[in-house]
Amino acid sequence: MIGKAFRVSIFGESHGKCVGAVIEGCPPGIEVNPDDIRRDLERRRPGKDEFSSPRDEEDDFTILSGVFNGRTTGAPITIVVWNRDVDSAPYEKIKDIPRPGHADYVARIKYFGFNDYRGGGIFSGRITAALVAAGSIAKKVLEKFGIEVLAYVFQIGNVRMREDMTLEEIRENLPKSPVACPDLEASRGIVDLLRDIKNEGDSIGGIIEAVALNVPVGLGEPPIDTLDGDLAKAMFVIPAVKGIEFGAGFRLAQMRGSEANDQLTVRDGRVEFRTNNAGGILGGMSNGAPIRFRVVIKPTPSILKPQRSVNLREMREVDLKLRGRFDTCIAIRAVPVVEAVFAIVLTDHLLRWLSWRGYWSSGGRSTG
Ligand SMILES: Cc1cc2nc3c(=O)[nH]c(=O)nc-3n(C[C@H](O)[C@H](O)[C@H](O)COP(=O)(O)O)c2cc1C
Repeated sequence: MIGKAFRVSIFGESHGKCVGAVIEGCPPGIEVNPDDIRRDLERRRPGKDEFSSPRDEEDDFTILSGVFNGRTTGAPITIVVWNRDVDSAPYEKIKDIPRPGHADYVARIKYFGFNDYRGGGIFSGRITAALVAAGSIAKKVLEKFGIEVLAYVFQIGNVRMREDMTLEEIRENLPKSPVACPDLEASRGIVDLLRDIKNEGDSIGGIIEAVALNVPVGLGEPPIDTLDGDLAKAMFVIPAVKGIEFGAGFRLAQMRGSEANDQLTVRDGRVEFRTNNAGGILGGMSNGAPIRFRVVIKPTPSILKPQRSVNLREMREVDLKLRGRFDTCIAIRAVPVVEAVFAIVLTDHLLRWLSWRGYWSSGGRSTG
């Protein structure tokens, strides 16, 4: 489960009937517009561009509980996203031959062979549709407090976006990029790169950057449930995430304290930081600056290029030639997933922070 106040668990398998999420602890009265959920799911949906898996899912969903007359009731919310375009035949042929880079081998050992291996089962990117649906509700809670979350492709292969882009430019350009990269020149470079990679029958990794704006000071519950710690843990719920860095991240290793420290100033009667190398988090708590982190997503494990694996029934090495439906680069479709999980963790910590501030006595409007 992600969260302690706003709690999200997910269920379902790639080729089962559905994937879904149960959200507990969501305050009552939050407006739920199915069009918002649909819009978020659409950004993650496969089959809509030349580089994503041609699995043609409508991502048709049903809210089973917790929403009445268009608003949350305070009871657990259950959302299911139905699986329609399921083709399990290719997986029957390779059920004894684990795909390198995928969870097949480990899952077979851990679950004594009882796991649903079709389409990767619970280890499929499909489960992220449930996270996106839950994140859509979390965003509605954040919206009430003016908190905005945004994610986009920062880098694919060696093609990286300009780092001096303003948030306005990023917001304006994002809908124009077919690969969710706000730097449109980099976006074109990524499209060219992906065409080459796809022609080679291969895949490639990428980095997603995420930003949250207007987060009040003090979200995070040190010493254990730090905001950065909880974000990191939740990001690893997303399959294929292999690392996370906050603010200047691993570049901090090359910096002096005098350069890394975000010095304080006062602007319009408010404390601000002159730089944001901390990525908006100090001591495991939000410091009022934009929260900014990057996650690295590995290349799609399933590729058309032949690879060596092992037939586990016969215990001999074999050539594995996959014939299936894969993304050339997972990072692009994972963008709304990162955004959703970010929103879920922030909502959890916002509710925990508000409980100290007397959420009910302030009518849920106080942002400190
Ligand atoms: C949105 C999304 C789509 C994915 N699509 C595929 C895919 O088409 N083929 C594949 O082999 N892996 C895909 N994955 C990645 C695997 O699910 C993941 O690599 C696998 O579960 C092993 O887990 P790990 O990479 O976290 O170790 C996808 C992941 C995400 C987030």
